[in-house]
Amino acid sequence: MATKPRRRPRVTGESWAAVGTSRGAAGGKASLKRSHALGRSWRSPLAWGVFALILAVPAVYFLWAYPTGEGMEVLASQHETLQHKFYPVPCSQDYGNHKQFTGCTPLKCGRAVTDAVITHQEAKRMLRIAEAGLSLGGSDGGASILDLHSGALSMGKKFVNIYGYYGEEMKEILTEEDFQLYRNVKRRIQQEIATTFDLDANSLYLTKPTFFSRMNSSEAKTAHDEYWHPHIDKVTYGSFDYTSLLYLSDYSRDFGGGRFIFIDEKTNSTLEPRLGRLSFFTSGSENLHRVEKVSWGTRYAITISFTCNPDHSIMDPTWL
Ligand SMILES: *[C@@H]1O[C@H](CO)[C@@H](O)[C@H](O)[C@H]1NC(C)=O
Ligand SMILES: *[C@@H]1O[C@H](CO)[C@@H](O)[C@H](O)[C@H]1NC(C)=O
Repeated sequence: MATKPRRRPRVTGESWAAVGTSRGAAGGKASLKRSHALGRSWRSPLAWGVFALILAVPAVYFLWAYPTGEGMEVLASQHETLQHKFYPVPCSQDYGNHKQFTGCTPLKCGRAVTDAVITHQEAKRMLRIAEAGLSLGGSDGGASILDLHSGALSMGKKFVNIYGYYGEEMKEILTEEDFQLYRNVKRRIQQEIATTFDLDANSLYLTKPTFFSRMNSSEAKTAHDEYWHPHIDKVTYGSFDYTSLLYLSDYSRDFGGGRFIFIDEKTNSTLEPRLGRLSFFTSGSENLHRVEKVSWGTRYAITISFTCNPDHSIMDPTWL
């Protein structure tokens, strides 16, 4: 995901060099001869009809495949309820630059989206946790985060530690039941990722940062507010292997803009946030992505990230 305190430089953009195909002059003579022979038929109405049809087929396909009319494919629209959709993509080389973990390091890469793992009611309760926690602080710019593991909460142009800052008071704001729900949701996401990518769920570990986010249309005040830059999670946060996002509000109902976008060589594709919608993907450069700027309203989500490396694992948050 995009918003994140204290760390490595983010990758802004990737140059997807198009592979140049050289269309040589070979065969030039032969085709010249052929075009002389065909010279007559090109003037017939039938030939023109065939020619028009050849042009029409890709045009119709283009209009059908990109209904938003912006060269953007919609993988999941806000008003549909999805059981489980998986879009495979070839794995990048990124995983080779890190320690490999058999049975966990991605061999199969891709993107998944489902509305069937987290119930509407659970998502509403998660939203309440996000609202309650984030109401204690908030960035001066458009993006605030709350990390229940480290306690980091956006405040003005900085971060505070909610556990240190609010101490015992926190127990009135976030209850043990809230933490139980959080752990339960996390466990089911972990299971869903494992099933989708043919892994043992126990080989996946929760990692940081894992955080709630709240975004609105306010102008960015610091780099932490700039969530819209294209980035690769594995590059931004070396420990990530699988990234998941649980949306806690609805695109076009609660906010405008703010769609999640995968950036690919030929076309981009979008996932429209929906309350309770879960999306997850392998964290390497096969999944370069960004979030559109929010244009109105407030967008809530939680980013829950997993690593294959036990050295980078973090504990579930809990009240001791
Ligand atoms: C966005 O949220 C911040 C708090 O993080 C708040 O101060 C600001 O007024 C909000 N902006 C809008 C346009 O609602
Ligand atoms: C995809 O998104 C990137 C980054 O926002 C943009 O530069 C590119 O033009 C988009 N591609 C298409 C086909 O719209």
